[in-house]
Amino acid sequence: MAQVFEATCSAPVNIAVVKYWGKRDTSLILPTNSSLSVTLSQDQLHSKTTIRASESFTEDQLWLNGKQESISSNKRLVACLRETRALRANIESKDESLPKLAHLKIHICSENNFPTAAGLASSASGYACLVFTLATLFDLRLNASELSIIARQGSGSACRSLFGGFVAWEMGQNDDGSDSKAVQIAPETHWPELEAMICVVSDAKKGTSSTEGMQLTVKTSPLLQHRIKEVVPRRMEDMIQAIKDRNFPRFADLTMQDSNQFHAVCLDTYPPIFYMNDISRAIIRIITEYNKSGVKAAYTYDAGPNAVIYAPRENMPEIYALLSHYFPGAAFADSLGMLKEQKKDWTPADIQGFDTGISPIFSEASVKQILHTKAHDGPRVLGTEHSLLNAEGLPK
Ligand code: DP6
Repeated sequence: MAQVFEATCSAPVNIAVVKYWGKRDTSLILPTNSSLSVTLSQDQLHSKTTIRASESFTEDQLWLNGKQESISSNKRLVACLRETRALRANIESKDESLPKLAHLKIHICSENNFPTAAGLASSASGYACLVFTLATLFDLRLNASELSIIARQGSGSACRSLFGGFVAWEMGQNDDGSDSKAVQIAPETHWPELEAMICVVSDAKKGTSSTEGMQLTVKTSPLLQHRIKEVVPRRMEDMIQAIKDRNFPRFADLTMQDSNQFHAVCLDTYPPIFYMNDISRAIIRIITEYNKSGVKAAYTYDAGPNAVIYAPRENMPEIYALLSHYFPGAAFADSLGMLKEQKKDWTPADIQGFDTGISPIFSEASVKQILHTKAHDGPRVLGTEHSLLNAEGLPK
């Protein structure tokens, strides 16, 4: 019988509060600025990957969400495989007793527990999971920062998903990318009151991908140069301090300002790129009105119309009441049990000083889904019972 080696792992999504947008090296994926994110709980959103190495396999194969995909045409995936196999080969060359895995063909099977169509950050959790699972299979014994250097070459934002909690991606200076890595600013236990609400906004059209969009911004936006040189270095320091101090109003101001500037550099791109729509902008108006008498929530948007709202737990029932008033019919995932604490007959008019005329009420299911989640841990090694491959090495 051919010997079989296998690992199954899961990895989380992260949502940036200081955005990565722009590369100085597109093949090594080296960014034009540092960034910072919060890793979200895998209970709501995660990627799960099984990788098996076997002498009986004749070629490397990949299945993504049930569909077979080419490996060789995906340069980023090839880079992650090349890097991890080279490290394994090096370990094997120093220790004769180790099984020879570096030269074996592998089968990779990966799934997200959320629909890719929802436009949530699947490349971040996907590549973090791929690299973490390869490192587990090959027993590479690298720390999360070292692994982040490899995951970065799959997708920039993936490097931050190697850690739980609050994570910075230090842009680094070296041409070979050896210092462009993720570091943990604080673990998830540092700020347990901080939670997130993800609003999945309906959007039929497929927008510009991050990868393409950010390079058009690098090429054409003068505002990006100001952001890179003047704004982000200072903002990173301020954000790290706000997190260390658990200073929510400061954290929120910086988060909203950075989201606004990211979308401003998109507008400054020529031709311009739009990611937010009328619903996204209505959510900004609602949160701004809610914050009028003191900052209680922070919105942020990535390369799509979905809103992520960060807020202390105690404010979440109010925020949910606001959102469900203006966006009726949104499916709400109450996995943190928040609704149980909410007053049943609650409306925006109950919030003192809130001008309910700030936005029209949108039609049914303009916001399709609301996910309530929070900061949580990094990638996990799972037991063999979680394997996605059957005895033949094909998806179950
Ligand atoms: C707006 O990591 O998806 O979400 O490195 O080309 O794969 P590639 O891009 P990607 O870009 C994410 C951009 C962002 C901001 C962020 O997550 O920091």
